[in-house]
Amino acid sequence: MGELVVGIDIGTTKICTIVGEVREDDTYIVGVGVEPAQGMKKGMVTDVNALSQSISASVHKAERSGYRIGRAFVSVAASHVQSTNSTGMTGAPGNRPIDMGDLVQALEAARAIPIPHGREILHIIPRRYNLDGQQGVRNPIGMHGYRLELEAHIITAASASLENLEKAIERAGVFVDRFILNPLASGDVVLTPTEREAGVMVVDIGGGTTDIAIFIEGTVWHTGVIGIGGHHVSNDIAHVLNLPYELAEAVKLEFGHADPRAVQPLEMFPVQPFGEEHISQVKRSDLVDIINARVSEIFELVQTEVKRSGYEGLLPAGVVLTGGASLLPGMKAVANRVLQMPARVAQPEAISGMAEPLRSPAYSTAVGLLRLGLIMDVEDSRRANVRKGVVALRRRKPPAASARRSAVFFGALSRPRMSDLAYFALSIRTEAPQARPATPGFAFVFLTSDIQ
Ligand SMILES: Nc1ncnc2c1ncn2[C@@H]1O[C@H](COP(=O)(O)OP(=O)(O)OP(=O)(O)O)[C@@H](O)[C@H]1O
Ligand SMILES: [Mg+2]
Repeated sequence: MGELVVGIDIGTTKICTIVGEVREDDTYIVGVGVEPAQGMKKGMVTDVNALSQSISASVHKAERSGYRIGRAFVSVAASHVQSTNSTGMTGAPGNRPIDMGDLVQALEAARAIPIPHGREILHIIPRRYNLDGQQGVRNPIGMHGYRLELEAHIITAASASLENLEKAIERAGVFVDRFILNPLASGDVVLTPTEREAGVMVVDIGGGTTDIAIFIEGTVWHTGVIGIGGHHVSNDIAHVLNLPYELAEAVKLEFGHADPRAVQPLEMFPVQPFGEEHISQVKRSDLVDIINARVSEIFELVQTEVKRSGYEGLLPAGVVLTGGASLLPGMKAVANRVLQMPARVAQPEAISGMAEPLRSPAYSTAVGLLRLGLIMDVEDSRRANVRKGVVALRRRKPPAASARRSAVFFGALSRPRMSDLAYFALSIRTEAPQARPATPGFAFVFLTSDIQ
């Protein structure tokens, strides 16, 4: 049996566990477990026990494949996630080529920003380097210079919220390998390298949240999470048409459309509202107006986020919509109209062994977790012995002895998604580990080169 990589997407509406087995030629999806999510609202835990049971059920389903799941890469997205940019500077050696250690020093300097009490760094993503005033250096390793500057995107999250999520996962018998922000995972499997290079925004519209990541020059420049999703659309339908939530959801799936221009004015559909004994006919255009109002609001908030990022006008490849709610017909047209940029709806690119149901925008995050997890493992293995003592490679929690890896994943990914980016994970101690055992600081770092 090859090494396993597991991704668990903890969404507001569903938990999806995907097990990937790394074989010599490729990585194969060998187990999948999807279960409705309980105990989650807007990406936040509202009931640890209920959530834990849903996770357990999803994990057990995935384990029916015969594989035991000990640890997993887990998605996170909620309004407590925030992002900021930071610059770190270090003196470069000048007389010798810049090496990994210099990059780590620049990274350390970039991460030395005041983090409010109760928050922790989730990811640090190097965007570009400046060497002796030369801007936009992608990979300074091997170059000569005296002043190395790193521009980094830093994503932070509320420690307590992560703790709650971690607790629910651990109760299901699984260690959290690392948390990965949703749109980073989704972006990894729905964007093309050309889009990422030119400038593009991925918008993952799920049940409870809409997650955004802006990619420019091949890497992540901005991220954001909005606490509205498809669930709010169904809720609006339920309120306005006086329907039970489940019926509103069913009506949305069967008759819903986000674009009023695409619906005939006289089209009707049957429903039985609360308090009515008989089925009544509702104008489909009324339903579409309800949906359009909420969907337009979502895209207006996305637009606000783009403006806030300062990268408006830098996204020629437009917006790529994914997540379950992007399946609503007409989403592309509304995105196009509100955001005034090209739009497309995308599902995850296929991985070997990926069954048809996973080829849906609803599974982009889960499939992306698997891919990112795989790449991070490869880089962990490669770097395990690099710069010991300066940077300790450490997972969020030590994996159970039974789950600890021995094999190295070289060649696991024949074609890394971001071809010129190597991902790797660093864990940098901010405090003595005994003082803060449950929340070791860690950073997920993308570097703009394949660093040996
Ligand atoms: N065919 C469809 N048409 C319209 N909406 C759909 C369709 N399929 C799923 N949805 C909507 O997608 C939403 C769920 O999306 P998804 O599975 O991506 O959410 P999630 O990952 O569980 O939640 P989140 O990421 O917000 O925490 C629901 O609101 C559902 O109504
Ligand atoms: Mg989701």
